[in-house]
Amino acid sequence: MRIDILTLFPEMFSGFLENGIVNRAAKKGLVEVALHNIRDYSTDKHQQVDDYPFGGGAGLVMKPEPLYNALKDVIKDGGDKVPVIYFTPQGRLLNQDISNRYKEKERIVLLCGHYKEIDQRIRDMFVTDEISIGDYVLSGGELPAMVMIDSVVRLIDGVLGDMESALTDSHQGKYLGTKHYTRPYMFEGMAVPDVLVSGNHKEIELWREKQSIKLTKERRPDLYYGK
Ligand code: ADE
Repeated sequence: MRIDILTLFPEMFSGFLENGIVNRAAKKGLVEVALHNIRDYSTDKHQQVDDYPFGGGAGLVMKPEPLYNALKDVIKDGGDKVPVIYFTPQGRLLNQDISNRYKEKERIVLLCGHYKEIDQRIRDMFVTDEISIGDYVLSGGELPAMVMIDSVVRLIDGVLGDMESALTDSHQGKYLGTKHYTRPYMFEGMAVPDVLVSGNHKEIELWREKQSIKLTKERRPDLYYGK
């Protein structure tokens, strides 16, 4: 998968891209990430990327020209086939289904806004999907882009080893994940549940499922009982 990121703050991605899952995927040749600074596509001499909103009101809006130039350059001959995802609290909420769908794509373009929003005409012309990562307002699309990249990339075949298969994660199935313990057996006077050291795999499986159902009922009744 090739991921193009359009942002005013490419440096924000360096720690994220150079460590962890994306770096591993890139080393295996499964993912290629390219950062594009929107300011480089500005055509005026002050490299201005934002301006006052028509009709008045607080905040600045990202100007269409730099975004247009950047998107044209990045999409190139990909045409309508390339998904262009814009991060905004107005978007649909990111979930595991959405990430599972995007993991199949050959390319995605991620557009990170700042200030109030971006000029609506860019959304109308280029954007194929609008994603929110939660009902709160962040100061830009960079963190949402990293959240989405992480959740998509770890699902791509071959990125995680078998031992860490993403299939048992919370939200991959119907329920939240289960409880986990590792060594030492006794920690601060608290022992690991007997069943986990019983060697009875059937019982362990049942116990884990029971814990996961209990947790889901308690914490996310919307998932368990449906909305
Ligand atoms: N930009 C600002 N807030 C956001 C959010 N919650 N999700 C996605 N993009 C955003």
